[in-house]
Amino acid sequence: MDIVRRVHSMREISRQARVKGQRIGFVPTLGALHDGHSALMRRMNEQADVVVVSIFVNPTQFGPHEDLERYPRDLTGDTDRCVREGVDYLFVPGVDDVYPEGPRTWVEVPELSERLEGKSRPAHFRGVATVVLKLFDVVQPHVVAFGQKDAQQVAVIRRMIEDLLLDIELQVVPTVRDAQGLALSSRNRYLSPEEYEAALALPRALEAARHVIGEGQQKAEEVRAAVREVLDAEARLGVDYVELVHPETLQPVGLVGEQVLLLVAVRCGETRLIDNALIARP
Ligand code: PAJ
Repeated sequence: MDIVRRVHSMREISRQARVKGQRIGFVPTLGALHDGHSALMRRMNEQADVVVVSIFVNPTQFGPHEDLERYPRDLTGDTDRCVREGVDYLFVPGVDDVYPEGPRTWVEVPELSERLEGKSRPAHFRGVATVVLKLFDVVQPHVVAFGQKDAQQVAVIRRMIEDLLLDIELQVVPTVRDAQGLALSSRNRYLSPEEYEAALALPRALEAARHVIGEGQQKAEEVRAAVREVLDAEARLGVDYVELVHPETLQPVGLVGEQVLLLVAVRCGETRLIDNALIARP
């Protein structure tokens, strides 16, 4: 595996791969890689000849009071993991290379970006869409993998690809969870043992929603109440939102349709956690 640190080098590698007719698969990440990221790499290994993973802690998607400075960094562990997963190129550009003039030009995906996560993180998806477009342009992938874990991010990237006529196939990989059901996240390492126990209410709450929908409940209000009940029982959790929305438009629904996306965000101590479930009506 080669570690590529410069934008111009990555561009040249991708250009040559395309000349050879190779299919390029790409997984953008913030690093501190875990088994969730590995699932994305494996998906790209199945689908592409050349797999590129980027690690870039993108400053423009962090709010002024968020964890940019203390975001976990582990290039040695990340490199080992990428080698194990058969990644061909690990692209680790510097901030000066990605934003040589600082951030000036933005990609905005309005509406989708303002709801849900966007309410507590107003500039977040603008930063994500901007950096992802830049990385796409450098890496020139045919196919990219994103995790269902960040369902709103998937909706934003899907719309950006569609609206900007990008010739890129988007693959969405199911959320990888630990043995107790908690969705893997680089931020889980901030949780104390007590907070970790409390956080397990998240997968239990998603299960409660699956259960009531499975029993025939169609009213979104009632499903939300069942979810709230599980979350509110944990004193350490502060619920930010519980929403049932259309999976692509993210518009709130009153009644559960054929498929509904349940999105949950909570504060657990200092850590913000999100989780979601795509639930099909029985
Ligand atoms: P990061 O949080 O590192 O996540 C990189 C990719 O891994 C995302 O597509 C995310 O949805 C996926 N992922 C994270 N945890 C997962 C899990 N438990 N199961 C499956 N997939 C999981 O998301 C970002 O980075 C950034 O916003 C980025 C897209 C790189 C732009 O900076």
